[in-house]
Amino acid sequence: MESDVLVMSMHACNIANRVPGMELVAICDGNTARAKEVAEELNVEAVYADPAQMCADPNVEAVAIFTNTASHVDMIKIAMEAGKHVFCEKPLAENVEKCLKAEEIIKAHPNQVFMLGFMRRFDKSYRIGATPSSSLVEVLSEHGVCHECYQDFVSRWHDAYITEMEVFCDYVAKGEAAEPNVYDGTKATRVAYACKESFLKNELLTLD
Ligand SMILES: NC(=O)c1ccc[n+]([C@@H]2O[C@H](COP(=O)([O-])OP(=O)(O)OC[C@H]3O[C@@H](n4cnc5c(N)ncnc54)[C@H](O)[C@@H]3O)[C@@H](O)[C@H]2O)c1
Repeated sequence: MESDVLVMSMHACNIANRVPGMELVAICDGNTARAKEVAEELNVEAVYADPAQMCADPNVEAVAIFTNTASHVDMIKIAMEAGKHVFCEKPLAENVEKCLKAEEIIKAHPNQVFMLGFMRRFDKSYRIGATPSSSLVEVLSEHGVCHECYQDFVSRWHDAYITEMEVFCDYVAKGEAAEPNVYDGTKATRVAYACKESFLKNELLTLD
């Protein structure tokens, strides 16, 4: 399965079935065949190819964005200007300039919730390792010590993706400023580019 299908259908499935307080009322994707397939599976009637049209749907209160990274800021603009609360998958954008544009858009809509996805923050069993264990069980046999591993990032962070969506739902219900926010997205992008520069120059860099 391609990653976009996986990411889109995983989030859609979580919103439709696993997040109390959320109802999936519409799906939008430029690839309408794919959107229809997911919508049919999840019993969602409204399917759109154009994000602006979906955002004009009065049944839609909040929008979750999982389109390709380069389109995130355009999607944020469409959704925020249509008066929707917005959840956007990380990364915020592919460069700092676009992140700053996103900051301006979000600042102009102070009464709407914006939350940036970062599922690791909501991982109750945060673990770092080359081979992430799916449980704490280790088996010692004639093959040595074995432990079961997650096969992909969707199963690795299954619970965390649901928790972050629950948290977003809670922010919308309470009308509170969400975290991670757009500024976290800009900072993360600055850090990522500084890491790259540091690696290329082979020297330590200081960030303001
Ligand atoms: N949380 C994480 O660790 C993590 C990791 C990888 C990717 N992501 C995010 O997951 C999401 C999916 O990533 P991907 O690389 O699989 O995306 P992708 O490039 O494959 O695109 C996802 C979908 O967006 C649709 N789309 C793009 N532009 C559109 C438009 N203008 N109108 C309507 N539909 C449009 C495409 O048809 C496609 O089905 C992205 O938001 C990405 O930033 C998050």
